[in-house]
Amino acid sequence: MFGKKILGTILCAAIAFTALTGCAGGGTKKVGISMPTQDLQRWNQDGAYMEEKFKAAGYEVDLKYAGNKADVQLSQVEDMINTGCKVIIIAAVEASSLGQALDKAAKKKIPVIAYDRLLMSNENVSYYATFDNYKVGQIQGEFVRDALQLDSTSGPYNIEFTAGDPGDNNAGVFFQGAMDVLKPYLDSGKLVCVSGQTDFDSVATPKWDSATAQARAESIIGNYSDKNIDAWLCSNDSTAQGVVTALDSSYNSEGRGGQWPIITGQDCDIVSMQNMLAGKQTMSIFKDTRTLAERTVIMVNQILNGETVETNSEYDNKAKKVPSYLCDPVFADINNYKEILIDSGYYSEADLA
Ligand code: BGC
Repeated sequence: MFGKKILGTILCAAIAFTALTGCAGGGTKKVGISMPTQDLQRWNQDGAYMEEKFKAAGYEVDLKYAGNKADVQLSQVEDMINTGCKVIIIAAVEASSLGQALDKAAKKKIPVIAYDRLLMSNENVSYYATFDNYKVGQIQGEFVRDALQLDSTSGPYNIEFTAGDPGDNNAGVFFQGAMDVLKPYLDSGKLVCVSGQTDFDSVATPKWDSATAQARAESIIGNYSDKNIDAWLCSNDSTAQGVVTALDSSYNSEGRGGQWPIITGQDCDIVSMQNMLAGKQTMSIFKDTRTLAERTVIMVNQILNGETVETNSEYDNKAKKVPSYLCDPVFADINNYKEILIDSGYYSEADLA
């Protein structure tokens, strides 16, 4: 009787452990995590959260950063394939450069999860875990629309645009989401883009590089010696930081009655949040990297346990419709950042001081 009870308890504990860890009958399983760069705060956080959560769930983790170099990432992923990773998670430096590795992974039946950025033009992408990228851009566009009160004032208002890396599929999607909101106002003349640069190719920023965004912004600001810039739609924080640095050095807001443009961003980087507290960036999209990391661990567990993988959307990568899980982005600004970022434990007040 007593023996049966102990056996039952051990059995229950084993079942619970298996559900949590995804390690049914095969020792420790290794996952490969390939991140694009350590230059941006967010990828360090993504990597660290995933590593922590996978380890807590009993996995061995091979986490690598590619220094923003597509060829380095390719050899790192190939190494993950050759060293026994059971699933590989990739946030690509360049969306279409990993085909060779994806084909090799498929031959070895290693599922690949595109993380945050979609892997393009290859059918061997098993799943995609991300935030709703179109919605990110849409929220940025709506923020500008509402902050400038485009629907209730006559304007016209001046706006400039800075988008992301053409090699990152997300960049075009963010821009499209924002443009779908703002284009009608450009068409009607309520918004005016003095540089005339409103198409993605003209406003893109290779590698999302701050210095590149800054250099382009400096050349644009030259057009505004006698005009206000009312808004600058930036797709993320690294580009917004470049624009803010350019404005800081060559845009005299005091001579314009203290008028500083409305500036959007994404990621809620510490530097951008400090800029926000200083009145130099107006908002940033908050994509809680803890949520995406957790979702990815759930996906991997479901894959390795042979369960149905939970998805809520699909994204076309030009070779297949990739089953996707989209998390929900929100924005943080000066009015709600405490609730969104501090109360949630993402940052402490001291982090932003
Ligand atoms: C991510 C953004 C990030 C950008 C630059 C995008 O793919 O979705 O969160 O700011 O890359 O790293």
